[in-house]
Amino acid sequence: MKIINRVDDLRDLVAEARKAGKTIGLVPTMGALHPGHLSLVERARLDTDLVVVSVFLNPTQFNNPEDLRTYPRTVEADVALLEQAGVDIAFVPTVEQMYPEPDERVFDLGNVMRVMEGEMRPGHFNGVCQVVSKLFEMSQATHAYFGEKDFQQIAVVRAMAKQMGFDLEIISCPVVRESDGLARSSRNVRLTPEARRVAPAIYATLKASIDFARHHTVQQTVDWVTATINAYPEMEVEYYSVVDGVTLEPVSTWDDSNYIVGCITVYCGDVREIDNITYRKVVNPR
Ligand code: PAF
Repeated sequence: MKIINRVDDLRDLVAEARKAGKTIGLVPTMGALHPGHLSLVERARLDTDLVVVSVFLNPTQFNNPEDLRTYPRTVEADVALLEQAGVDIAFVPTVEQMYPEPDERVFDLGNVMRVMEGEMRPGHFNGVCQVVSKLFEMSQATHAYFGEKDFQQIAVVRAMAKQMGFDLEIISCPVVRESDGLARSSRNVRLTPEARRVAPAIYATLKASIDFARHHTVQQTVDWVTATINAYPEMEVEYYSVVDGVTLEPVSTWDDSNYIVGCITVYCGDVREIDNITYRKVVNPR
């Protein structure tokens, strides 16, 4: 595995690969790697000839400086994991390499960017679009891999890639969970033991809500999920939105769309956990 810190070195390697007709799979990460990231690598290895994993804690997508300050940083362990996982290139740039000048670009992608996380974390998706568009361009990726835990992020990245005319395939991969159901996340290490004990109730409640939804309206289901999770003193639901899985427009009845997803954010103590559940997917719209 090659470890690359400079953008120019990455450009040289990927240009060579593209010239040789190779496909390039990009897995963008912010480090603190866990099995969720490795599942993306595995899929990229199956699909493509050259796998590039970026490890870059992107400051422009953090609307909360405390979150950036406390985000786990484990670069050495990350690089060792990537080597073991059979990655071809680990791209580990500095902030100066990624942003030689401040990135002033403002993306307007409409509803997918404004709702849910867009509303709660102003500027977050703009920063994601800044860094991901740079990574797409620098890596010359033919395929890029994202985890479905960040369900909205995938919709935003797809919209950005379409708007900017990137010719690459965006592949969404299933959420990877702990054995008790908690979605794998780099932020999980920050949970207190008490919060970690109750956090699996998020996914357990979402799963149980599929049955509940068979006999209740969308609003009743939203209220039930929210109340069930809020019954744990350590947890507080920030939002639970039931939306169309492509447009992310809210749905008001279960017949409003063929693809319906519930997206949740919960504060477990100080840690913000996000997760989602699919209520309906009649056709594959992706
Ligand atoms: O999902 C993440 O870890 C980040 O938002 C991403 C896509 C690597 C961009 O920094």
